[in-house]
Amino acid sequence: RLAFATRSKSVATMAASQEFTGNLIREVEKLFDASLKLTVPDGTSVDTEVAASLPGKPGDYQCNNAMGLWSVIKGKGTQFRGPPAVGQAISKNLPASEMVETCSVAGPGFVNLVLSSKWMAKSIEKMLIDGIDTWAPTLPVKRAVVDFSSPNIAKEMHVGHLRSTIIGDTLARMLEYSKVEVLRRNHVGDWGTQFGMLIEYLFEKFPDTESVTETAIGDLQTFYKQSKLKFDLDDDFKEKAQKAVVRLQGGDPIYRKAWAKICEISRTEFAKVYQRLKVELEEKGESFYNPYIANVIGELDSKGLIEESEGARVIFLEGFNIPLMVVKSDGGFNYASTDLTALWYRLNEEKAEWIVYVTDVGQQQHFNMFFKAARKAGWLPDSDKTYPRVDHVGFGLVLGDDGKRFRTRSSDVVRLVDLLDEAKTRSKTALIERGKDKEWTPEELDQTAEAVGYGAVKYADLKNNRLTNYTFNFDQMLSDKGNTAVYLLYAHARICSIIRKSGKNIDELKKTEKLALDHPEERALGLHLLRFAETVEEACSNLLPNVLCHYLYDLSERYTSFYSIHQVIGSPEEASRLLLCEATAVVMRKCFHLLGITPVYKI
Ligand code: ARG
Repeated sequence: RLAFATRSKSVATMAASQEFTGNLIREVEKLFDASLKLTVPDGTSVDTEVAASLPGKPGDYQCNNAMGLWSVIKGKGTQFRGPPAVGQAISKNLPASEMVETCSVAGPGFVNLVLSSKWMAKSIEKMLIDGIDTWAPTLPVKRAVVDFSSPNIAKEMHVGHLRSTIIGDTLARMLEYSKVEVLRRNHVGDWGTQFGMLIEYLFEKFPDTESVTETAIGDLQTFYKQSKLKFDLDDDFKEKAQKAVVRLQGGDPIYRKAWAKICEISRTEFAKVYQRLKVELEEKGESFYNPYIANVIGELDSKGLIEESEGARVIFLEGFNIPLMVVKSDGGFNYASTDLTALWYRLNEEKAEWIVYVTDVGQQQHFNMFFKAARKAGWLPDSDKTYPRVDHVGFGLVLGDDGKRFRTRSSDVVRLVDLLDEAKTRSKTALIERGKDKEWTPEELDQTAEAVGYGAVKYADLKNNRLTNYTFNFDQMLSDKGNTAVYLLYAHARICSIIRKSGKNIDELKKTEKLALDHPEERALGLHLLRFAETVEEACSNLLPNVLCHYLYDLSERYTSFYSIHQVIGSPEEASRLLLCEATAVVMRKCFHLLGITPVYKI
């Protein structure tokens, strides 16, 4: 909100020489802010409304304040005759700036701004020299927690955890690019009553527990299933398992050791998947918060939030028809007590200003409830977009071709490792079909197969709005046509090969040559490049990776429109066009990086 108590003459010259800070729409907004300050009567406050113009419309950005302003000032002795006149004034009061080519008014007062192609070209040249990190958005937080992946011990990672891992990693990457320190947290399910039965089963099968190895236990998922079966059928075993939970929670060293062993084996399995996906995470599982839970629940109690209900201890929350249970009737803690404690820890010990949780939408109620409890306790502000801020980043289901939840033929949950294996095999086969095994070294073939295969799996997930369910389809995601990672990776590799084929040293060109955006296709591509940072900022603030995917696909389309009309190598504009190719490749690579996709340079 702007308050217009004073008018300053200096605003008119403020932006005369405008250096691009990376966020184009913000730069344009600054100009209109200054103009509105001069246009509106003293004391009127107004939100500057600027939007990118739709394709085919005049101008690159549009200011839409004239109509709204008119309705505020009409009949109050204003000199204006209607919204178009207000628009004219906004346009006239726009500070002189080298950013602007023209500014004009259309229809009922839309103010259309055309950016200077010269300024655009200069800003891109500067990025090529200083690096794309100079375009990074600035967010109002210094440290954030992204809580993602978070599988459960002894249960294999499945395709649902794939979504959390991929979406969480991208959000962490976007925040990191925006100069936020990100604590990447794996909130592993490593605590709870299931450990009683797992430990007892381990003791039974391996009396010499100390020396038990990963290979001896084999598949932990099967181990889990077997112990569960025994738990359900054998009353003696059930009783032992229940006692085991008590001993584990009481800190009995032998039970603790067995628990640690089971966790360790799971951890090794998870690590392999993270390594393949190139995802970094720091594990702070549920058990990490155990030592703090009693105190945190005590604090909530002393604030009068906790009540007794049917033997359990709960928090009643407005707007929910069930209370949030924080202590079970047997005195034990649960998922919610751990999450409240983890939140307390993240706010107070880790000093995080933004905490983001990535899980399926099925858990939305859980998050809404403990967020609300935290607000009630005064840990968080009442409104949800103010900092310290918490967000539940929910996502939909992965479906199979039959439109039902994605399962294997034997209707088991699909294991993540198998999916990745198949993606890699399929993309390798496609490369061999194109004779690449004869052109490339085996390492090159393998690396490209991985980059393309894993990239395809990630991109197919990220390109959808995360809340919608999506269908997992290898043929579609590995197609080299349409909005797929394969298409985009190839587009990037093709640009790189044009630059290689030119025989020019691109680093030299950056220093000595000028970029010109004289033709409409060049200009449209240049404008899209300049919109990169504002797109990342939007994707980040709304926690929507698909916004960035959309941008990337658009970028490759604009590049295609440019390249299919204009000759690059051997044309009089060769140097300028090579710079434009390079800038496109640089921005594409940054998009890949933010999406966790490894670029390829040869196809
Ligand atoms: N382990 C849980 C699951 O697999 C996800 C944990 C998400 N994070 C959290 N802080 N609750 O469903």
